[in-house]
Amino acid sequence: GSAATDIPRNPAFSNLNADDISYFRTILGERNVVEDEDRLSAANVDWMRKYQGSSKLLLLPKSSQEVSKILHHCNSRKLAVVPQGGNTGLVGGSVPVHDEVIINLALMDKIVSLDKINGILVCEGGCILENLSSFLENEGFIMPLDLGAKGSCQIGGNISTNAGGLRFVRYGSLHGTILGLEVVLANGTILDMLGTLRKDNTGYDLKHLFIGSEGSLGIVTKVSILTPPKLMSMNLAFLACKDFTSCQKLLLEAKRALGGVLSAFEFMDSHSMDLVLSHLDGVRSPLPSSLYNFYILVETTGSDETYDKTKLEAFLLRSMEEGLILDGVVAQDINQSSSFWRIREGISEASVKVGAVYKYDLSLPIDQFYGIVEEMRNRLGEAAKVVGYGHLGDGNLHLNIMTTRYDSDILAQIEPYVYEWTSKHKGSISAEHGLGLMKANKIHYSKSPETVQLMVDIKKMLDPNLILNPYKVLPQSCFN
Ligand code: FAD
Ligand code: MLT
Ligand code: ZN
Repeated sequence: GSAATDIPRNPAFSNLNADDISYFRTILGERNVVEDEDRLSAANVDWMRKYQGSSKLLLLPKSSQEVSKILHHCNSRKLAVVPQGGNTGLVGGSVPVHDEVIINLALMDKIVSLDKINGILVCEGGCILENLSSFLENEGFIMPLDLGAKGSCQIGGNISTNAGGLRFVRYGSLHGTILGLEVVLANGTILDMLGTLRKDNTGYDLKHLFIGSEGSLGIVTKVSILTPPKLMSMNLAFLACKDFTSCQKLLLEAKRALGGVLSAFEFMDSHSMDLVLSHLDGVRSPLPSSLYNFYILVETTGSDETYDKTKLEAFLLRSMEEGLILDGVVAQDINQSSSFWRIREGISEASVKVGAVYKYDLSLPIDQFYGIVEEMRNRLGEAAKVVGYGHLGDGNLHLNIMTTRYDSDILAQIEPYVYEWTSKHKGSISAEHGLGLMKANKIHYSKSPETVQLMVDIKKMLDPNLILNPYKVLPQSCFN
């Protein structure tokens, strides 16, 4: 069953009527105004099957002009909307809470241009991340971000969540790599900020407001993104460590020894490994898994095969000698490296197979990183499976707690404890997944009252009728 939400529907919103539907048909055409029950039921539920809405309408625009007409109409009629991309979000932000109209850019999946000298890609917001990656790889470039949901998530969704992922440690945040955006505002205004320049200090850099705003300020329809060159020499090591302190030291050592070629540093505990091995078919550990407490994936990407290998080998040898690594294996070919990545990227898929999963996505100072996992394990005992994994290179822990079904007693043992703990240790309650519906009321654990108030003021200015992704990101109480 799903986790119940008890947020009342905002009475200021209208109800969809037959005139609205016929208007949408005239602008989008019959086929792209979807009332089909099967398609709606898929669009009403999130990836974890935790959040469930009851929308009666899914719209599939083909251009920014169509998005503009939809929003202009919804705004004047006070019809609430939810922008949806690949629907892989993990905080309940991508599905309706009540009867919001779902707007999905799946048909806006065209590549507009690629500057082959600078690697600047311009594309529509509905492009699927993996398709962009494949396109770029043929042209000698790569996307600066990669994540387990690449086969379904859309670049507009990635930008709206400010997704982090597996390459963050090397290429940084989307706030650095996004050069421009086209966004449609709640009243239908098309905001052209689609610059393709590295440097442009002309006034306030408003695109940043939309990166990470989770569909609450506008719909991202076009994107300009700086893409790094594809480098040919890649190595991947799967390593085992005895304790968390060794993992921390290994990270510092990897940064020092591998420097510019380090391209991923991912972490998982033995509980995450066991979860994947017991729930995903055909996955095997490259190491005797029951022997070790922690696993690390270290990837290097560079341009000189011999030099990169020598560096990696020297790093591994020294870390072995110092006892930081107990065991390890370097992938011998592309198949083996995909099988290593499958273990790490498969944790989310395995976690939902248990039944119910409570996901916490925390930024924590490195010395506090694993403490909360152990505390939760002690607190919950036999009642739940607790696993810790994440992007150690970025200080981002994923704490997942799994039970057979969603249960308010379990939830009461986890929250607010986990948020209070994170706040006390000066962490963030959302490192990369966003606040969505799950954490809209928890923002104060990570942001001051004055900061939240300014966010509310900005929201009211850009979306005075509050039609864009209501009930998400900011506490509902701020708008009453
Ligand atoms: P959706 O889930 O459809 O929507 C997410 C949010 O963005 C919603 O609030 C929605 O309203 C809004 N939105 C979507 N499209 C638009 C648009 N065009 N304009 C305005 N708002 C829009 N996240 C990470 O950060 N790092 C990871 O490593 C990572 N790994 C994942 C692995 C798996 C297996 C899964 C299932 C999820 C993972 N995620 C990760 C979470 C998720 O994939 C990302 O948040 C992703 O960026 C969401 O993209 P999407 O297109 O699916 O957006
Ligand atoms: C990951 O790093 O695997 C993702 O953020 C997804 C998740 O935590 O489930
Ligand atoms: Zn992650």
